[in-house]
Amino acid sequence: MLNIGIVGLGDISQVHIHAIKYNSNAQLVAVCDVDPTYSDKIPNVHFYSNLEEMLRSEKLDCVHVCLPHYLHVWATKTCVEHGVHVLQEKPLANNAK
Ligand SMILES: NC(=O)c1ccc[n+]([C@@H]2O[C@H](COP(=O)([O-])OP(=O)(O)OC[C@H]3O[C@@H](n4cnc5c(N)ncnc54)[C@H](O)[C@@H]3O)[C@@H](O)[C@H]2O)c1
Repeated sequence: MLNIGIVGLGDISQVHIHAIKYNSNAQLVAVCDVDPTYSDKIPNVHFYSNLEEMLRSEKLDCVHVCLPHYLHVWATKTCVEHGVHVLQEKPLANNAK
């Protein structure tokens, strides 16, 4: 069973939540968003407002990065540095560099 986290609980995260829910090999265990109003939206899933805190506190196999474009590189790098796989929304980065 893969333990999954999501960072960014905006529009597209609903698609990810649905996909994880119907994957018998995965379970959503933690989510992260800077907006505290999301804290009680997903029952039985730990909520964080800081990605690094979520990575330190949870034993995650993969984080789905559902953040605005300009945060993609930062979030993916942060997850990889914690030894966690990433499923990142498009685009990979703001520019090729
Ligand atoms: N694959 C697709 O078909 C598809 C469709 C829509 C969007 N997307 C991509 O998904 C990404 C997200 O899009 P969206 O429409 O869900 O955006 P959104 O603005 O609805 O959601 C982004 C969320 O990230 C949160 N956030 C911002 N900074 C944060 C931080 N530092 N830490 C934690 N949370 C933070 C915001 O509070 C917000 O809830 C974009 O890159 C977009 O291009 C892909």
